[in-house]
Amino acid sequence: MKRRTGLILVAFLIFSCHPSGKSNSSAGINPYQYSIQKKTIAENGAVVSAHPLASKTGLEILKMGGNAIDAAIATQLALAVVYPQAGNLGGGGFMVARISDGEEIAIDYREMAPGRASRDMYIDWAGMAHTDKSQDGHLASGVPGTVAGIFAAAKYGKLPFEKLVQPAIDLAEKGFVIRQHEARALNGLQDELKKFNTIAPVFVKNSPWKEGDTLVQTDLANTLKRIRDQGPAGFYEGETARLIIEEMKRGNGIITYDDLKNYKAKLRTPHTFNYKGCKIIGMPMPSSGGVLVHQMMKMIGDRNIASMGFESEQAVQLMTEIERRAFADRAEYMGDADYYKVPVDMITNEVYLQERMKNYDPSKATPSSVIKPGVLLRAESKETTHLSVIDKDGNAVAITTTLNNSYGSKTVVGGAGFFLNDEMDDFSIKPGVPNMYGAIGGSANAIAPGKRMLSSMTPTIVLKDNKPFLIVGTPGGTTIPTSVFQTLVDIIEFNMTAEDAVYKPKFHHQWLPDTLEVEKGFPTAVREALQKKGYAFKERNSIGRTEVIKVLAGGKFEAVADNRGDDDAEGW
Ligand code: GLY
Repeated sequence: MKRRTGLILVAFLIFSCHPSGKSNSSAGINPYQYSIQKKTIAENGAVVSAHPLASKTGLEILKMGGNAIDAAIATQLALAVVYPQAGNLGGGGFMVARISDGEEIAIDYREMAPGRASRDMYIDWAGMAHTDKSQDGHLASGVPGTVAGIFAAAKYGKLPFEKLVQPAIDLAEKGFVIRQHEARALNGLQDELKKFNTIAPVFVKNSPWKEGDTLVQTDLANTLKRIRDQGPAGFYEGETARLIIEEMKRGNGIITYDDLKNYKAKLRTPHTFNYKGCKIIGMPMPSSGGVLVHQMMKMIGDRNIASMGFESEQAVQLMTEIERRAFADRAEYMGDADYYKVPVDMITNEVYLQERMKNYDPSKATPSSVIKPGVLLRAESKETTHLSVIDKDGNAVAITTTLNNSYGSKTVVGGAGFFLNDEMDDFSIKPGVPNMYGAIGGSANAIAPGKRMLSSMTPTIVLKDNKPFLIVGTPGGTTIPTSVFQTLVDIIEFNMTAEDAVYKPKFHHQWLPDTLEVEKGFPTAVREALQKKGYAFKERNSIGRTEVIKVLAGGKFEAVADNRGDDDAEGW
């Protein structure tokens, strides 16, 4: 494995940091009794993720001498065990990292359409599109990318892979105590688990799951051991591949041995741009996230949003209209750039973006039909998970990974213990037919064998003075880029604390449906003022679960975990 070191920031930290006011006293992890920490200030490294046992795993790896990439890999593997809604082996994701020597990397381990997939595979003889098949069960799964992605990332780590995977194996083999959120989610899933599985997985239970129950996942532990012992072949070949193919046969899925064996994670050039003294590093296609954030930040341009104030009527309206326009471009132009020529330079050109804002009128809403025509619908869904990590050398990692819907296709690979994704629904299964997030698309994101479906995942690193300043990301489907956009604007423009940027109510507009979604707690006065201007509103319980690490002026790390779930921030 390639070893990376970063001496510049080490020196900076040693000479400019003071002992932190709050320290993490965890020595080892107790999976049967653990607590949640929402914020920490640290000087040697920090990890934020959706589950305390995963964040604590990452912290232990940092303390063991691992770098941020090692910690991120171990955290991700732990999430595959303790957070089965979205942490995964059977899904995919993206990693954006800034290595301490200045290298910027983007690893694409997005799922891929199977070789037997076809453009109209979810459309019946009468022309009807079947989202039930793209969203649940065996036909919904793309070829998983997570394991390939982990090994592509491991080249930038320091510790042997066995050390990174062992905590996940222990958590699966010996079990861990589930929290109330998990118990509730599993209880809500029982009918679907029975419907979409031919072999009952460990998640099926005759009496209700409750907080404090221990979840042991022996099949998953064995899969992780095969990966530990055989590397990627422990997943894409041999016994695990056999179990996946058997599962496909039982459920009429189409993933083949060749699909598995041919899957490759891709090292991509990150999508970067400058904004007011910061360099923003994001994910390129097949994620729309990096380009959307670029478009949205640049559409703010010189409109002096800072003077409008956080969540003022003017600022919310401006950002809403920007989000609307960016998402209209997403539907038309974005898809896997290996298959479709995405006009990235054109749609991020500053003249083009100012032109896009020419019909912005602060006195009223711009109807989406004026910008582009389309079909309206939206379903709400919880999925995907993000983790942010930094180490004392200044290695910074942002990973967003997903099964798509919560628990993906709801199908667990019999004997292998992990959920398969339902990522095929992120393709445009028929032009104009909305996916589960209400997003529509056309040929840019049509299904083709081997193609990767368009994503909204937006793992993002911001540099200031050429050093890591922010590591940001969130789950939330199409709300991901808008939540990251708002977090960046809150911190860079409104000078808000990371805590406020994470916790304050968020809002979301995605062109279609032509609705401004707001979280509970969004200011009523702003809502009423915008309603008078013609905006239609919909209230949602929550938008995203944003995990932020901010490097403070003195060099310490402020890690903030979202309070919308069991998310946890650790550091030392
Ligand atoms: N599956 C959600 C996304 O990739 O955007």
